[in-house]
Amino acid sequence: MSTSTPTRVVSGIQPTGGLHLGNLLGAILRWVRMQDEAQCLFFLADLHALTVDLDPAELSSNVREMAAALIASGIDPKKSILFRQSAVPAHSELCWILNGTARVGWLNRMTQWKDKAGKNREGASVALFDYPVLQAADILLYQATHVPVGEDQKQHVELTRDIAIKFNNDFDVELFIVPEPFIGGGTTARIMSLRDGKVKMSKSDPSEMSRVHLTDSDDEIAQKIRKAKTDPEPLPDNAAALETRPEAKNLVGIYAAIVGEEIDQVLDHFAGQGFGQFKPALADVLVALIAPIRARLNDLRQNHDELDRILAEGAARAIELGSPVLAQAKTAVGLAR
Ligand code: TYM
Repeated sequence: MSTSTPTRVVSGIQPTGGLHLGNLLGAILRWVRMQDEAQCLFFLADLHALTVDLDPAELSSNVREMAAALIASGIDPKKSILFRQSAVPAHSELCWILNGTARVGWLNRMTQWKDKAGKNREGASVALFDYPVLQAADILLYQATHVPVGEDQKQHVELTRDIAIKFNNDFDVELFIVPEPFIGGGTTARIMSLRDGKVKMSKSDPSEMSRVHLTDSDDEIAQKIRKAKTDPEPLPDNAAALETRPEAKNLVGIYAAIVGEEIDQVLDHFAGQGFGQFKPALADVLVALIAPIRARLNDLRQNHDELDRILAEGAARAIELGSPVLAQAKTAVGLAR
């Protein structure tokens, strides 16, 4: 991240399912590191969660649970603005304004839309189609310069750039900042399923064995790693040799991300060893990462009043930051009185 220009960081996570290792390495631990470098806004994207089937009774408890998981992972509400998306109505209002700018053709090209709607486009919700425009509103409302996300969200940030540029041009304003996607290096940009190295680790995967959750016990973590799919070859001595071995590449990448080394450095220790030796070492570093987060999460998750207070305070600060931008967007399109 360049430090020469003022930076504002915005990112969100859907409060569906628990936080998993893909979220943690692909996004959240990078959010944590950015807190000291820039003004950061992080939110629970509960409006985005409406695009999938979700039990209404679960949504509020999921929001608290995810807020607790973020704080347990190191998001500090004193440094960062942490809030629930729906508590800031400007997100929805700006989304509607940007719907006038976004083109159907652009949204039709979104791979997430194509994947999620599948063959049943006619039966998909309009919200699922419009999802990336709401995401653009989330980002542009705060004039974000950097959007730390995993690789799977890159296309949405690129769409946000297109919307910002078209809006500024169409209405002859310099309102929206054109944001940069900020994607992790190494393999953290895309942590893969433990059951299949060709698909990403995801909360929508029906197999619990495909991902590690922050709430997993030490034994569950060790078991998931023990059972993770691998190949029979020993580990090679260079990163290039992992390119044709997606499961091996993923596990070595996870290890490297956790210990803060390059893949080649990890291979310096493990070259020639089989997974019988590597997997217990990986389980150990994973447990060392997750056990303290899980302990903090267990303390925090019961404290509903404190979580609600943090989220309300965050929403108030977000409203203050976003209001002038929404007002200018309204003026630009002729909605202001
Ligand atoms: P969501 O909730 O699916 O995921 C939250 C963050 O975790 C990253 N991620 C991964 N990174 C690496 N490997 C994986 N296997 C993996 N799985 C998930 C995601 O890329 C994301 O950064 N649409 C967003 C939420 C959102 C948002 C926004 C993000 C709404 N508005 C504005 C940024 C800015 C989403 O569904 O993320």
